[in-house]
Amino acid sequence: MLFNLFSKKTAPAASSAIRDYADLKVDLHSHLIPGIDDGSQSLEESIALILELKKLGYQKLITTPHIMSDYYRNTPEIILSGLELVKNELKNRGIDMKMEAAAEYYFDEYFLSLLQQNKNIIAINNEYVLFELSYLNKPQGVLDAIFAIQQLGYKPLMAHPERYPYLSVEEYTEFKEKGCLFQMNLLSIGGFYGKSVKLLANQLIDLGMVDMVGTDLHRMKHAEQLYYTLESSFLEKLFTEKDLLNPTLL
Ligand SMILES: [Fe+2]
Repeated sequence: MLFNLFSKKTAPAASSAIRDYADLKVDLHSHLIPGIDDGSQSLEESIALILELKKLGYQKLITTPHIMSDYYRNTPEIILSGLELVKNELKNRGIDMKMEAAAEYYFDEYFLSLLQQNKNIIAINNEYVLFELSYLNKPQGVLDAIFAIQQLGYKPLMAHPERYPYLSVEEYTEFKEKGCLFQMNLLSIGGFYGKSVKLLANQLIDLGMVDMVGTDLHRMKHAEQLYYTLESSFLEKLFTEKDLLNPTLL
């Protein structure tokens, strides 16, 4: 009896009531087009990853290959022809999953030049330009890029803001005030990228700054880790307290 009482008191908090990601309906950050970045390397792998995301409850995937001057000079043509390949394979196999594509732009001189020329910009839902920053060094001119994206009629969407340890709350606030939206990685909430990223993710959730969430799925290991995120009380907090924009993209 005493033991029961004791174990009750020390039992871990009830785990999250979130069973899957079905309420999100849409994932808008992944690397599922084979062979054009560091994500899926074959059509077979792409299909396997897509089946995992289907199992997790998604109805639509807007996949976002890297565009990066040094490594991945992908263009909308390359991305969209890869998308067709994946869509055909899904159709051939009778897999029901809506698919679209955009890109994840690395914040570099090349991206800035594309913005300046209004060239090779491919946006999520023709609306949101997804861009990422260096994980190590604070880049200069992010606010200029945010403005340039808006001048072209798009909404800037920063990928995984919780992965940039050099940013302060003041800087996050300034980006938001200038109209930049934030896409958090679900894997960050589950602790996949380490403790400090998880803490920053929790902090951004507490501050109500998250507009969308993404899987940033590159490989099968990430799909497995998405189940850990479901256990997080912060995910539950995010899902209950915030109207995320993911379902609006269906
Ligand atoms: Fe990504």
